[in-house]
Amino acid sequence: MPEARITVDPAFRVGPVDPRLYGSFVEHLGRCVYTGIYEPDHPTADKHGFREDVAGLTRELGVPVIRYPGGNFVSGYRWEDGIGPAGERPVRLDLAWRSIEPNAVGTDEFCAWARRVGSEPMLAVNLGTRGPDAAARLVEYCNHPGGTYWSDLRVKNGTAEPHDVRVWCLGNEMDGDWQIGHKTADEYGRVAAETAKAMRLVDPGIELVACGSSHAQMPTFGSWEATVLGHCYEHVDYISMHSYYTVHDHDRASFLACATGMDSFIEALVATADHVRAKGRHAKRINLSFDEWNVWHTLGFQSEGDWERAPRLIEDTYDLTDAVVVGNLLISLLRHADRVHMACQAQLVNAIGLIRSEPGGPAWRQTIFHPFALTSRHGRGTVLQTPVAGPEYETPAYGAVPQADAVAVLSDTGDELTVFAVNRDQREPLPAVIDVRSLPALRVAHHTYLGDDDPSAANTQDAPDRVVPRAGDDLAVDDGLVRVVLPPLSWNMIRIGGGDR
Ligand code: AHR
Repeated sequence: MPEARITVDPAFRVGPVDPRLYGSFVEHLGRCVYTGIYEPDHPTADKHGFREDVAGLTRELGVPVIRYPGGNFVSGYRWEDGIGPAGERPVRLDLAWRSIEPNAVGTDEFCAWARRVGSEPMLAVNLGTRGPDAAARLVEYCNHPGGTYWSDLRVKNGTAEPHDVRVWCLGNEMDGDWQIGHKTADEYGRVAAETAKAMRLVDPGIELVACGSSHAQMPTFGSWEATVLGHCYEHVDYISMHSYYTVHDHDRASFLACATGMDSFIEALVATADHVRAKGRHAKRINLSFDEWNVWHTLGFQSEGDWERAPRLIEDTYDLTDAVVVGNLLISLLRHADRVHMACQAQLVNAIGLIRSEPGGPAWRQTIFHPFALTSRHGRGTVLQTPVAGPEYETPAYGAVPQADAVAVLSDTGDELTVFAVNRDQREPLPAVIDVRSLPALRVAHHTYLGDDDPSAANTQDAPDRVVPRAGDDLAVDDGLVRVVLPPLSWNMIRIGGGDR
């Protein structure tokens, strides 16, 4: 029987994991905000109107950073509409999603909620219909201590201490013609540079993300980033990337290997950013913010509302197969931890969400919640280079790909190694041998996996725990070799430690 051989050695490191790799995203889209995180009439609502059941699941998930307020939404957003007394806020048309935006939740409410769930806010500014002035005023409103018009307005609105927002996105998907205020690379590069300068004049300590391509298949991918960074390299810290994955033409074999596509996308963008660095004789490196990623099957339809409040938009129900793919995408992100410092799974609740909630009803974990939460909890420390030798299979999209993919993370204390692995084979289990002889103190291992006889098994309101992590019982440790069987179509976590656990 074929087997996978996974070798780890602490001498061969990729780099430290920035916890912000485990970010998520809350957009004013569908029911992500309204009846997602916020529902004042809900039985679990806190005194601020936010659902405590959803907040609890968000804490359990472990998302150190949450991007807000969009997404496509931000490119038509006036942030001033979302501050001040609730009764005086304007109701607006949200042109991005053809929805009614009541502005009941805005910057103050979101930032306070993010802190309450253990996250830091990552705010995007509108570079579609607005520019440097509105962006700099928002930084002043959020981060300046007081004594000026905008900072005093924040204090008057009830937030005495600054929100202290460290990370800011300079617009959203400005390369896409669907974006309100879509721009050419030169137009965007210039406005991004000038906006970054103005925002940093208000607060020099902020980190800034320039928009990269909306996805790797954009016709301008590569040249967009090179041109944009040509204008704003010295003014920004990160370039963004977005990607959503689905099954094309019933080709599940390629879908299961789409982390290969994520690997290529990241490596191409690193090469492009480093090309601009060399060309411009820049000293610093631009790192990557993969600030929208997920599986998204309803792509291309069900994406616009009919001028409703909180419409049900892009509410994908995720199954076991999707969870294995999401776990594999996290493996890809970790594998590139030296350059991908931030990533935001899109999105947190209801709209392509990790969490689902019903108005007035329960909230539950989608299947994809589980690999995310476990990777966020245990994938902290230093990523090690993790070569995997083993069987391959052919895919229409990526050619020959490995049946197993894996990455290992060594804890900062050095007394625990966690290996995340997937078996992409839809029918056969795969024995794996993890060679940890270079870490002789580690001799006890535990196996947790997500697998099921039914690849379409999903968690629903009636069966919220249909798919949950299970403890594996097919594991042995022998002279520095951990032998484990990866079930068919499974995501796996093998924790190897020194203690008697
Ligand atoms: O996450 C949903 C949408 O996908 C975002 O609004 C947009 O940035 C992307 O196209």
